[in-house]
Amino acid sequence: MARHVSDSRVEMTEIVMPNDANPLGTIFGGRVMQLMDIAASITCFRHARCNVVTASADSLEFKGPVHVGEAIMVRSWLNWVGRSSMEAQVEVFSENLLTGERRRTSTAYLTMVAVDQDGKPTEVPRLELESDEERMRFRQAGERRTQRLRLREKHRMEEAE
Ligand SMILES: CC(C)(COP(=O)(O)OP(=O)(O)OC[C@H]1O[C@@H](n2cnc3c(N)ncnc32)[C@H](O)[C@@H]1OP(=O)(O)O)[C@@H](O)C(=O)NCCC(=O)NCCS
Repeated sequence: MARHVSDSRVEMTEIVMPNDANPLGTIFGGRVMQLMDIAASITCFRHARCNVVTASADSLEFKGPVHVGEAIMVRSWLNWVGRSSMEAQVEVFSENLLTGERRRTSTAYLTMVAVDQDGKPTEVPRLELESDEERMRFRQAGERRTQRLRLREKHRMEEAE
């Protein structure tokens, strides 16, 4: 069984409200991270059609603020799928609703793992790639995965010392 990248793509939009904001009147980084985690989870749920948990988040960048009263848009799609793990790329945009101006404000890669009822990793459908861009993203995500697993191994060895 295989699914396409387009089967699990997510786009969420909401208005930044005062209770999401810091004293500068821009959205808290933690709130942006929560929205990114939700979008990536829905993408991975849609692909796996079973429970998923966040295993790692990396290359998180906050390139610019989103102000109270602006729309915040969060887009998420799959770059890579392994046996039980999936890499979702998440991008965040602000939109000034009066002028229509849009800016990309944050990006990250989130790895989610599909788990069974006992919380054990479980197999997910293959990712059927349809374009050269998807194939390129898949290849690059595979390289990032290798780095992540190296880092995980390093942390494990440090903990064991
Ligand atoms: C994520 C979790 C299920 C992995 O369990 P584990 O026993 O380490 O499983 P494994 O070593 O067999 O790895 C399972 C898969 O996850 C991947 N993985 C595990 N840790 C990872 C990490 N830090 N970064 C990227 N991938 C990771 C493995 O590469 C493997 O992928 P594959 O099946 O596609 O080959 C487990 O660590 C966990 O439950 N973590 C807590 C999750 C959580 O509570 N998240 C926050 C709330 S949602």
